Amino acid sequence: MNKDYSKYFTPSLKEARKRLNKNVEIIEYNLPKHLIGLGENKKYLIKTYGCQGNLADSEKMAGILEALGYQETFDDADADIIIFNTCAIRENAESRVFGELGRIKGLKKHNPNLLMALCGCMPQEEKVVDVVMKKYPQVDIIFGTHNIYKLGEYLYDAYFTKEKVIEVFSKEGDIVEGLPTKRDHHTKAWVNIMYGCDEFCTYCIVPYTRGKERSRHPEDILAEVQELAKEGYLEVTLLGQNVNAYGKDLNINYTFANLLDDLNKINIPRIRFTTSHPRDLDDATIEVMAKRGNIMPHLHLPVQSGSNSILKKMNRKYTKEEYLDKVSKLRKLIPDISLTTDIIVGFPNESDEDFAATLDLVTQANFEGAYTFIFSPREGTPASKYEDNIDNNTKKERLLTLNKLINEGFLRGNKRFEGQVVKVLVDGKSAKDPNLLTGYTGHNKVVNFPGDEELIGKIVDVKVEKAYTWHLRGIKN
Ligand code: SAH
Ligand code: SF4
Ligand code: F3S
Repeated sequence: MNKDYSKYFTPSLKEARKRLNKNVEIIEYNLPKHLIGLGENKKYLIKTYGCQGNLADSEKMAGILEALGYQETFDDADADIIIFNTCAIRENAESRVFGELGRIKGLKKHNPNLLMALCGCMPQEEKVVDVVMKKYPQVDIIFGTHNIYKLGEYLYDAYFTKEKVIEVFSKEGDIVEGLPTKRDHHTKAWVNIMYGCDEFCTYCIVPYTRGKERSRHPEDILAEVQELAKEGYLEVTLLGQNVNAYGKDLNINYTFANLLDDLNKINIPRIRFTTSHPRDLDDATIEVMAKRGNIMPHLHLPVQSGSNSILKKMNRKYTKEEYLDKVSKLRKLIPDISLTTDIIVGFPNESDEDFAATLDLVTQANFEGAYTFIFSPREGTPASKYEDNIDNNTKKERLLTLNKLINEGFLRGNKRFEGQVVKVLVDGKSAKDPNLLTGYTGHNKVVNFPGDEELIGKIVDVKVEKAYTWHLRGIKN
């Protein structure tokens, strides 16, 4: 029996912000038997936008699709199903998706059986589902972040009903274990440790699109990492919107620091994690990081602003001084640590003084890289309604000024490795110059060096000869 999608579940931001504190359901995934073979002789293509959370979700969707018999293609014209796994964080993230949807509309003329699906964070917004229904009739399937595990059912229904399949849940969310995963990389893997976010920073859409903070059980995470180590993976990046809140919802007295400590005992060379929240980054975590082992000496610690009044309006729950205090602790225990951050400029009514405070913080914290953004109002979030008298040109100028300062830090951070021998996990050939290999150091610095293809997927010693703003250039040691 196919489901009746005429009374489909559409998103509601109001529902999505509720935190009912009900128990999180753990769903053990089983591939429905009747779906096996659905993808025989068919090809899929997934276009992924946004954060690592989406990259990890796309790998799970690819896992499901391959279990159904689909094969991957990288050519739009060759695909029988194209999935857009979307991001709603800023307006330009959404415009890119709408642009691409328009661009590939014509493909259906050549392949009338082609299905197009929209999933991820954009469908969690009421407005987006309305726009897609009205202006993008080429989209056949719409689902959200809470139900990617039902992808097979949606495809089945779309083939057999020939109607639109729309199901978006605005809820706190469950945890789905046991999904098949087709990882993009052979040596580096994403591992979700928690889902959702309860921070409600006033500018941010994520707590609405991803549900409440919910942690996976430590034994499931440790088993996954152990398995990856056995399969020969060399690097694991733990994922969560606020990894420092890990475990709080489990009520088992087990924190992120405990998890890191346990992962440090697993025989895998590199553990990374993202993203940390400055308020929740505790001493215990810094102490475990200081033990080093397989925990990499790099921390991405988004600060967002250096102005206390803006931080308050952002609901970030720390001050500039508290942030810098954590930075001092980190530098004291891990002197060589590489720190990177995220910064938003042009938050509503950000004054020249507020912006100057951000520049001052950047100088004091000595960041070695940052993602910088102009504030983008997201419908339904509190900050989208804040009064804003700052014109766009001022915002753009601030971004340029900030980026200049950030790039100086980037170069300084790279320069400190000149003359040193660093360990590089080799990703592959450099996109710009196929005669060079490229990879990352423990401090998360890009290194390019001439070398044999057989080094790809290995950790090798490279002597750094010269530092540039965006990369290091070296020779194999
Ligand atoms: N959970 C992470 C990352 C969230 S999204 C964290 O808390 O840091 C990644 C970055 O996008 C944020 O750190 C923030 O700098 C930026 N961002 C989020 N919402 C935004 C908005 N409405 N406008 C501009 N930048 C935004
Ligand atoms: Fe968004 Fe703040 Fe949550 Fe990060 S911590 S995802 S910025 S609400
Ligand atoms: Fe974007 Fe959703 Fe990630 S809004 S940044 S894809 S959580």
